[in-house]
Amino acid sequence: MRSINTKQEDLIPFSLPSRQAREMDYVLEAMHSHHRHGAGNFTKRAIAKLNAITGVKNILLTHSCTGALELAMLLMDIQQGDEVIMPSFTFSSTANAVVLRGARPVFADIDLNTLCLDPNAVADLISPQTKLILPVHYAGVGCDMASLCAIAKEHGLAIIEDAAQAIGASFNGRALGSFGELGALSFHDSKNISCGEGGALLINNENMLERAEILWEKGTNRSRFLRGEVDKYTWVDLGSSFLPSDVSAAFLLGQLERVEQINNERCQIWNNYYSAFSLAESSGVCTRPFVPDSCQHNGHIFYLLLNNMDARNNMLMHLKANGISATFHYVPLHNSPAGMQFANTPHSLPNTEKAGNCLIRLPLFPEMTLAQQEKVISVANDFLFAQIQAHDRSVKVSI
Ligand SMILES: Cc1ncc(COP(=O)(O)O)c(C=O)c1O
Repeated sequence: MRSINTKQEDLIPFSLPSRQAREMDYVLEAMHSHHRHGAGNFTKRAIAKLNAITGVKNILLTHSCTGALELAMLLMDIQQGDEVIMPSFTFSSTANAVVLRGARPVFADIDLNTLCLDPNAVADLISPQTKLILPVHYAGVGCDMASLCAIAKEHGLAIIEDAAQAIGASFNGRALGSFGELGALSFHDSKNISCGEGGALLINNENMLERAEILWEKGTNRSRFLRGEVDKYTWVDLGSSFLPSDVSAAFLLGQLERVEQINNERCQIWNNYYSAFSLAESSGVCTRPFVPDSCQHNGHIFYLLLNNMDARNNMLMHLKANGISATFHYVPLHNSPAGMQFANTPHSLPNTEKAGNCLIRLPLFPEMTLAQQEKVISVANDFLFAQIQAHDRSVKVSI
């Protein structure tokens, strides 16, 4: 395999957040207004757009998905002695939200087809201390929400969804993030829809709305005051500052108005990759993502699972040598220093370790040109076909 000489301008980044004039216009308008702090007009408009996208009536914008998850754990009154079942194949924020309340994450394995929480593994871990199940919709592909909701119902547990990657994606036609009591979205630059740092809490249990607004606004009833429901506002409960500024909300609104376009463009690239690696998959050197019929995904991530960590690392180096930024993903939490200190891992997690060791994500962003896609496909297939030949040779030797 040869490396192609790559000029600086030909380098293909892993991700580039999409940005158009509309977002910039809204930001300028917000900057010129006298209301640049949270809960302003752009916040209201962004929420209205999110209501339409998700079908969820009650939503709060937050400064991050991390913030939304922390707010969710406060609302659920998660505390010391409680256990929360979640995947280890996730970002630290999923677990931190639980640990910050003094409770313990309990790590369950993922389904190797979807890399989402495996309902069978969850059922096995339920104890008298279990308070809730925290599924993560990896790559914008839904967890098996039918099975997870059935398990939660049977055991009287709540579900909080980490839908950080899942804007615009659905399970059985229903938006991800809308199944549990609460759902958390991310609008970090790395996500399909972004405003630098941002997030949202979807409040599916209407009874939680009033307290959610209070915890969101530093423990005060300021939201009620702004609606004219009380004549002054005061400190009434726990809380923190979870609001984004209206300038962030302005950028977010512009992005949300283009959600279909952005997700469609990403899905188109995803589909091109999917077709291009069919031969490599059927030759046994990698596995492509699997999207169950029940799921409409949003093209957030295109990944391949290689057969072992060496192959994955060599492929990363090969792409890099050819000017392509690809990357691995989560380093499983159960083996991390904080995971070993703060969480329980009752069983081995072979699928999680396989994903941590063998997964490679390819560049994917809406403005990616066809020429860039073709280059990634050709350089990646170069590597994979060399693997196929090596694989064939080793099979012949062993015969
Ligand atoms: C599954 C998951 N949850 C939560 C987060 C945190 O999101 P944010 O950066 O918006 O806080 C991330 C970030 O990538 C994530 O991947």
